[in-house]
Amino acid sequence: MNEICDRLDTELTSLLPEGWKVPETLRKSMTYSLMAGGKRMRPLLVIAACEAAGGNREAAMPVACAVEMIHTYSLIHDDLPAMDDDDYRRGQLTNHKVYGEAAAILAGDALLTHAFYNVVQSARKHGVPAEQVLAIVEDLAEYAGPRGMVGGQVADMEGEQGITNLAQLEYIHLHKTSDLVMFSLMAGGRVAGCTPEQIESLRAFGQGIGLAFQIQDDILDLIGDEAKLGKAVQSDVKQEKVTYPYFIGLDASKEEVRRLTEEAKKALIAGNFHDPSRLLEIADYLMARDH
Ligand code: IPE
Ligand code: IPE
Ligand code: MG
Ligand code: MG
Ligand code: MG
Repeated sequence: MNEICDRLDTELTSLLPEGWKVPETLRKSMTYSLMAGGKRMRPLLVIAACEAAGGNREAAMPVACAVEMIHTYSLIHDDLPAMDDDDYRRGQLTNHKVYGEAAAILAGDALLTHAFYNVVQSARKHGVPAEQVLAIVEDLAEYAGPRGMVGGQVADMEGEQGITNLAQLEYIHLHKTSDLVMFSLMAGGRVAGCTPEQIESLRAFGQGIGLAFQIQDDILDLIGDEAKLGKAVQSDVKQEKVTYPYFIGLDASKEEVRRLTEEAKKALIAGNFHDPSRLLEIADYLMARDH
């Protein structure tokens, strides 16, 4: 994981092609949040899925960077005063606290757009077949857009006003978080040329660990350590969010993280991958995470 994270850092540092004339503040504000020290879970999943299916790590790198850009844009916007109104992220001041709201909104917009440029580079630089890249672009638009992450964020915002039942809460978590995790795994599989059955197995695995990941995020918002998390705890309480612990209690939430992770691992094993061991280890690692 450390080795891949170092590679990602190098790639993400030279974010924009040389020769592009880009306003310096935009370049800086994009880089600030990208390099602020995230866990890189989604790009790691892209690469681990690709390698589980016997694919080439380098060929997966552009898509791995793309998903981290989408994720980082979503965090910049999520922290804005109009959304969760948070001051710290990844152990540093949030983007809008440093660059101002307008610049933060635009840094997010730029990361979102540039992600698609990156996806295409997997064909241009590494010869991933255009048909696979087309499927990745389509998935990314579906899972990060209105039917995916953005839809989930809207439902999360509306959730503040005092819904909800467990099905509505599940909708929020599946879309604001699971969808991008699912995308990451499927995209890694597509780079490796997986069969439709294997893609389905990666999808089911991603949905399970993605939901478990967000429930764990809710748990850590309540009982986590601010210094380890790099963001304020009790943010959900302050914003009156409906979360899993709020709805079913802390112990039942912890049990749900465990149950979802075990089910997800079974779905992955059903895919008959060349070597699923690293993905299985990541699932266990995430279940036990404290940041
Ligand atoms: C935080 O994601 C937002 C959620 C979807 C829960 P991460 O916990 O992966 O954040 P970073 O990338 O490590 O900062
Ligand atoms: C964020 O969920 C989900 C997205 C950014 C898509 P949260 O609002 O729970 O994430 P944190 O707790 O601020 O990291
Ligand atoms: Mg939020
Ligand atoms: Mg938030
Ligand atoms: Mg949270």
